Amino acid sequence: MPLGVRRTALATLGTTFIALAAAGIADAGNAGFLPGEAHSPNAHRIDSAFIFIAVFTGLIFVIVEGALISFIIKYRRGKRARTAEGPQIHGSTKLEILWTVVPVVILAMIGTFVFFELPGIADAPKAAAADETTIRVEGHQYYWLFRYPNGAVSINQMVAPANEVVHERIVGLDWEVNHSWWVPDLGGKMDSIPGRINKTWFEAPVGNYAARCAELCGIQHAHMDATVRVVPRAQYDSFIRQRLADASSATVGLEEWQGVCQSCHRLDHKYIGPALGGNPLLGDRKGIETLLRNGQGQMPPVGRNWTPAQIDALVAYTRQFAKGGSS
Ligand code: CUA
Repeated sequence: MPLGVRRTALATLGTTFIALAAAGIADAGNAGFLPGEAHSPNAHRIDSAFIFIAVFTGLIFVIVEGALISFIIKYRRGKRARTAEGPQIHGSTKLEILWTVVPVVILAMIGTFVFFELPGIADAPKAAAADETTIRVEGHQYYWLFRYPNGAVSINQMVAPANEVVHERIVGLDWEVNHSWWVPDLGGKMDSIPGRINKTWFEAPVGNYAARCAELCGIQHAHMDATVRVVPRAQYDSFIRQRLADASSATVGLEEWQGVCQSCHRLDHKYIGPALGGNPLLGDRKGIETLLRNGQGQMPPVGRNWTPAQIDALVAYTRQFAKGGSS
């Protein structure tokens, strides 16, 4: 390769690399190094473990890459003949002991630290029964469904009481695929695996926390995000009470339409699935129930375990889009 071309190629490569690295850093907002701010005791412990491990891996990275780069420069061929032999070196007991013992010590330290933090990540602190709540989390293709102790439901937005232990039961539905419930600021990922119930928890101050599906679960995986809205206890209580009162209303229906149907459908054009505008099914309680419970062709059974009220709610909202539908 002529020198000019090689220089241009190297410069292009270098610029590209810097641009990519800078984009990552700009996007992450915290130099791309630290996880988001923790707002729950278990998330704090995960952060501590992350930082503890990052110190060692960071040091090792700097030492190894530094040595690599300095050796490349220091021992480059330069003007020596291509065939010149380097010095022949055999073994160094001291070095070999060192690079065996040091990693063992580092691994032991990391292991000890992680096992020390683990119980506080996995187990919720003991709380008085009055100060805790259990919310059921269901991963569906392609939405999150939350069921509250009083039977109320919400979609893609969990509302939870502040400053008390909230247990999450992540229920993997038999007919579903794997999903993973992840609220980075409130703790680690917890998989939703068909046939299993996984448990996690958080205890957070008032605020909105972003949640993601962290397991590739199909064509709309990228749209499977949600919000955890942590509010004062009284507001939480009135939310679930109101939700229950509205269980079969168009208010809940609108949320279902936006969270469930619209992940794959639009009214006026084909999206992932066919356009729905004017489809008589939208006003047909029986027809829509059959479709939601059984799916059809490419469409998964998105409402297989919905309560009758959930189906009523959807029809209450969608019947306006049906032409010539009956109810
Ligand atoms: Cu659900 Cu990805």
